[in-house]
Amino acid sequence: MTIVHISAECYPMAKAGGLGDVVGALPKYQYKSGDQAMVVMPMYKTPFLEKHEWEVHFKGNTNLGAWFFDYTIIKLKNSALGFELYLVDINGLLDRPKIYGYTDDNDRFIGFQIAVINWLCSWAQQPDIVHCHDHQAGLVPFMMKHCYDYQKLQNIKTVLTIHNAQYHGSMGWDKSILIPRWDLWKRGLLEWSGSINPLATAIKCADKVTTVSPTYMQELKVHSNGLETLFENEQSKCVGILNGIDVELWNPATDAMVPYHYNVKDVLDGKRKNKEVICERYHLNMDKPLIVFIGRLVGEKAADVLPGAIQHALDKTNCGANFLVIGAGDTSVESALNYLVQLYPGDYNTYIGYDEKTGHEAYAAADFLLMPSRVEPCGLNQMYALRYGTIPMVRDTGGLHDTVVDMGDENGFGIRFLHATESDIVYSIERAIEVYNDKNRMLKMIHQCMSIDHSWESVVADYKKVYQSIV
Ligand code: GLC
Repeated sequence: MTIVHISAECYPMAKAGGLGDVVGALPKYQYKSGDQAMVVMPMYKTPFLEKHEWEVHFKGNTNLGAWFFDYTIIKLKNSALGFELYLVDINGLLDRPKIYGYTDDNDRFIGFQIAVINWLCSWAQQPDIVHCHDHQAGLVPFMMKHCYDYQKLQNIKTVLTIHNAQYHGSMGWDKSILIPRWDLWKRGLLEWSGSINPLATAIKCADKVTTVSPTYMQELKVHSNGLETLFENEQSKCVGILNGIDVELWNPATDAMVPYHYNVKDVLDGKRKNKEVICERYHLNMDKPLIVFIGRLVGEKAADVLPGAIQHALDKTNCGANFLVIGAGDTSVESALNYLVQLYPGDYNTYIGYDEKTGHEAYAAADFLLMPSRVEPCGLNQMYALRYGTIPMVRDTGGLHDTVVDMGDENGFGIRFLHATESDIVYSIERAIEVYNDKNRMLKMIHQCMSIDHSWESVVADYKKVYQSIV
């Protein structure tokens, strides 16, 4: 099968969150399983772009409303990624350092999608599946089916994967002129609550809709930022498939970003050495359990609850645990978190920002990973934590529900709590301290964590079933 993934992010070219990780891994494992998988994404000005060699693959031109533009499809030379990576270069529109956050983001992603479809029209042999990710590729299924210029693509099957249904990419009707000549009778497919809603459009037009965990699929019918009834109506073509993780990239026995390698046999020794590095760098106490938070400091991740919860826990347990918060986001949350550093020197610290290396080091060093997320479609961090023998402490939602079993249950290996509140988090921290002090129990749980397999192989087979059901 030939599968074309269309996405705004793909690691290592450009990543803002889990979307990038997934789009950087799924095609690689699809390719390994014998399918011709490739990714097409915008050409941003990222370090990866500058450090690698590219070849011009195709040159074309088309319209974005009244603007006639040239675009170039460039291809990564000698790709070591395990799949083919194509970038769409549109001068002045996409070639900027950031992925998101510009006032003309709607125009940028519509332009990107139009260029991709325009390029697809030139293919001698059509792909079997066009697989769109999130709202930035959400107009593709509509345009392939209902734009007059793209009629030759009408029969190609499309799949939408929703990584996060909080964001819809909604825009006013004035933007409808940017979409190449389309069948006006199909206006209803573009519309949701009075606006053009690319995520809703994709849910209506794609042949299949997947999201990244079975529990999140259920949650969307009651909580999806206004699309609940749509998910209810379209449920027959929707399915939840839990993400995998790239176990080659995330392997404590070989991870080049981690100072000391270890495996399940020498995990205690390996984690201790890595913890020493982190504790020294952030002035933390080796003897206390190290609880880390890694993620964007935004409401979805319940980062706003962290300062209060951590302060409360440090006071209540008489600093029985140490904390390290890694991430960036809302500036008010960042300052509240930074403020605590002076109050609890030696027991708490922050790293405001994110880079892959610090992330990997922290998974290897930490005893626990805290994820109080209000919304978590899948969550990859808890799966990385499991792989590194770091016990996940998670709110019982979405993919976290599907991947973490509470230690109170038979064969449980994590800590699960119901609410993203200070009191639930503090109680979970107390449970973490208790298990940390019970060395046998702790080791047993670490072993259980490391034995769980979230590799992509079985996930790829699930996607294949989805494709086969429509091709
Ligand atoms: C988004 C979701 C996250 C998911 C990731 C990859 O970032 O918030 O839960 O794991 O996409 O699908």
